[in-house]
Amino acid sequence: MSPSTVGGIPLSRIAAVFESESAEYARRHPRSLERAGHGIAGYYDGVPMHWMRDWPMPFPFVVEDARDCVLRDIDGNEYADFCLGDTGSMFGHSPPAVAAAITRQATRGLTYMLPTEDAIAVGRLLAERFGLPHWQVATTATDANRFALRVARAATGRPKILVFNGCYHGTVDETFVRLVDGRAANRQGLLGQVADLTQLARVVEFNDLPALADALSHRDVACVVTEPVMTNSCMVLPEQGFHSELRGLTRETGTLLLIDETHTISTGPGGYTRAHGLEPDLFVVGKPIAGGVPASVWGFTDDVARRLDEARAATPPGHSGMGTTLSANALALAAMRATLEQVMTPQAYAHMERLAGHLAAALQGSISRHRLRWHVVRVGARVEFICAPGPLRNGTEAEAAHAPALERAMHLALLNRGCLIAPFHNMMLVSPVTHETQVERLAAAFDAAGALLASG
Ligand SMILES: Cc1ncc(COP(=O)(O)O)c(C=O)c1O
Repeated sequence: MSPSTVGGIPLSRIAAVFESESAEYARRHPRSLERAGHGIAGYYDGVPMHWMRDWPMPFPFVVEDARDCVLRDIDGNEYADFCLGDTGSMFGHSPPAVAAAITRQATRGLTYMLPTEDAIAVGRLLAERFGLPHWQVATTATDANRFALRVARAATGRPKILVFNGCYHGTVDETFVRLVDGRAANRQGLLGQVADLTQLARVVEFNDLPALADALSHRDVACVVTEPVMTNSCMVLPEQGFHSELRGLTRETGTLLLIDETHTISTGPGGYTRAHGLEPDLFVVGKPIAGGVPASVWGFTDDVARRLDEARAATPPGHSGMGTTLSANALALAAMRATLEQVMTPQAYAHMERLAGHLAAALQGSISRHRLRWHVVRVGARVEFICAPGPLRNGTEAEAAHAPALERAMHLALLNRGCLIAPFHNMMLVSPVTHETQVERLAAAFDAAGALLASG
């Protein structure tokens, strides 16, 4: 590929498409431009959260409301939403059962640091669904990962964790390590990070079993933390046998295994773990678990619980370093109960799986028709197009496959055709309330955008 092309498309054509789509976007969003386009007063950098600026459009649009998987902005535009809050609304916006549970709880107190009937029901539901006996509730997947890693260190008495290059598990400090020319280093771009994180973490490439075996042979790793499929760069699937070898190596070396299902819960009601018979010691899922109300859960085995008990018995009383005040609040547990009982159902997943299959096939058809050397990856309801040939094997290949300028132009072209997909990567989620017609709309928009870029 010559440097003047990205993903097989000349840079000049990408720039021209982005320019014309930006003009169209501005034309369609006069009110959003006026209200938020020049920065919203009162916020540092003009937005409530910095990544609201990182979407591919020239300025963010302002949302009027969202229902099921349709999102409307204050300019009167409607979008078929395939971003779904980057998984937080994976089951659609405001599922009726969750909205009813929130409404019910709204006048009964929102947080009081004591269990409710919903909390009692949720403990059983989590154990049944995910197959682990011990659970705790936190507010974000970041928190759940942080606490689970702390337990892993307490249970094993080992200092380090191991992550795969290119991973993301939320803003957990010691997971922010990368391989740079084969050596571990702090991830580029971290602000205010004064520690050398490589003292706390080892990092190897996903799918690299010899490197994994070598890293674990030091027997100083408390826990390997991984997504079952790498979803946070371009998607990387595990190779045949990877997960069973990973489990074997962790067991041989006395290392715990934490599976982070926050995104791969797209696979099925029990996540990729249950669908593929994985056997983690610790398990985390956040984002959609309470239907969009901030909440996460982390679970572990009897063995981890026993070792945690021993560690606690040997530790003087004091703050455990885990927990936040609003964790496991009554509102979150009401929403979680409704989600587990009525929303994350096998029927919902069957619908998601079927339509996501249609979407993936349609996108792959467009890619072939336009002779693009791109590929499509799917994990259950989660579909992604990647502007490079595949399959990708690891985080380094995934990083190299990213084509930011091209992806930006694609995202904007899709948006102007009424389809919203996730920023930062090319992810599209199919929800239980996504209609076949919306999938067709996205497939047609993708085809039109591909044609625009491929033919000039
Ligand atoms: C796999 C994974 N784990 C954890 C997180 C952190 O989730 P949160 O931002 O809700 O803390 C993310 C966020 O994208 C994620 O992708």
